[in-house]
Amino acid sequence: METIRRTKVVDLLKRDDFGAMVNVKGWVRTRRGSKQVNFIALNDGSTINNVQIVVDLANFDEEMLKQITTGACLSVNGELVKSVGAGQAAEIQAREIAVLGTCDNTYPLQKKGHSMEFLREIAHLRPRTNTFGAVFRIRHNMAIAIHKFFHERGFFYFHTPLITASDCEGAGQMFQVTTMNLYDLKKDENGSIIYDNDFFGKQASLTVSGQLEGELAATALGAIYTFGPTFRAENSNTPRHLAEFWMIEPEVAFNDINDNMDLAEEFIKYCVQWALDNCYDDVKFLNDMFDKGLIERLQGVLKESFVRLPYTEGIKILEEAVANGHKFEFPVYWGVDLASEHERYLVEEHFKRPVILTDYPKEIKAFYMKQNEDGKTVRAMDVLFPKIGEIIGGSEREENYDKLLARIQELGIPMKDMWWYLDTRKYGSCPHSGFGLGFERLLLFVTGMANIRDVIPFPRTPRNAEF
Ligand code: 4AD
Ligand code: MG
Repeated sequence: METIRRTKVVDLLKRDDFGAMVNVKGWVRTRRGSKQVNFIALNDGSTINNVQIVVDLANFDEEMLKQITTGACLSVNGELVKSVGAGQAAEIQAREIAVLGTCDNTYPLQKKGHSMEFLREIAHLRPRTNTFGAVFRIRHNMAIAIHKFFHERGFFYFHTPLITASDCEGAGQMFQVTTMNLYDLKKDENGSIIYDNDFFGKQASLTVSGQLEGELAATALGAIYTFGPTFRAENSNTPRHLAEFWMIEPEVAFNDINDNMDLAEEFIKYCVQWALDNCYDDVKFLNDMFDKGLIERLQGVLKESFVRLPYTEGIKILEEAVANGHKFEFPVYWGVDLASEHERYLVEEHFKRPVILTDYPKEIKAFYMKQNEDGKTVRAMDVLFPKIGEIIGGSEREENYDKLLARIQELGIPMKDMWWYLDTRKYGSCPHSGFGLGFERLLLFVTGMANIRDVIPFPRTPRNAEF
């Protein structure tokens, strides 16, 4: 076979230098046609679109042709020609075809229209479907958008550790990291495990958030963000929870809660705009195939400014809804940690746009949040989105050493884990704020997928760590 430099399908479909000899490589999506001519839809993952390969059967070896089945990998040399059929402008009139990899009839993706549940069972192959190709291209693009957003605004990308000895959210949902022999654990006279001989010489876990270390950086570099995996051993089998998810956590010195809300709103709108501008083919595909309201919802979020509302006001609205006959599965009262049905009611039914809820009861929020004068609430902010519920959680931080220490003691957080964090409040303390965006929650919104397991390549959930 003649050596011609490979063109990616995404680039090839934009070309109009008809008559040129080109090479494409990719996987067969479909093959159809007559006894004389076949049409192969070839996809190489660079775009949702396939390139059509026109094959005059008489010109090719019969044994080779038999190997062109769904899923087979081909290298095709041919002439770029103007397409006569509808769809795209260019197609390839095949001159030479090499089968790089055959694909027999045990290939699970022969037919279209598999359920999402089935595709999760073959997560090693599902990137080859149109749907997951689109989702994972969008995932990449959103990661780029996030770095671009912060870089352009002078934020520094700061790498926080994945292995840690402190529980940032204080929710006790950490996965332990150990090299100890679990069959022969050394315990003291009280039955507590002795960690002296463990790898780190103390109990260590996978992080639930990079925030605490992020605060160290923000109070030195001014404005930073983290973007990395986080781990939570919460036994939540919901379409919105993963045991391993990616989080983006900006932290900014001198920002108060209002600056924090401005940043969150600008950031999320930037990401949504980016998806529309840079992933339109993929978003359009998902809109047409799964979720006819997707593009409209994305545009909707860009148009409106987000509602900003204290938690207490939100509870009043929900209580009124209950009084007027609306049925929630979980009870509503001041002090309750809102369920996703409550959050979605505020966003989808009451305000019909995103809502930033602020000033939550301190009992349901983490120890580091700035305490309000009322003694009951803290300067927390959750950004609530249509279809998703909570997409961002953040706060202004308690910068007062005594108040922070008192709260740490009140909650019984072991000081040996926190001395370094408290130092930020001891040495040149400053007001500062930050938040965490769940990357997969953002992707749920931008792709219109219904289950968070379908926006991460290899989901980790309770009782599932396959692949
Ligand atoms: O509200 P969370 O727990 O806040 C924090 O972790 C703070 N340290 C953030 C900060 O202020 N720097 O989590 C932040 C976001 C949530 O709003 C949600 O989008 C996502 O992380 N998230 C999850 N996403 C998927 N699976 C889970 N189990 C998640 N838990 C939280
Ligand atoms: Mg939260």
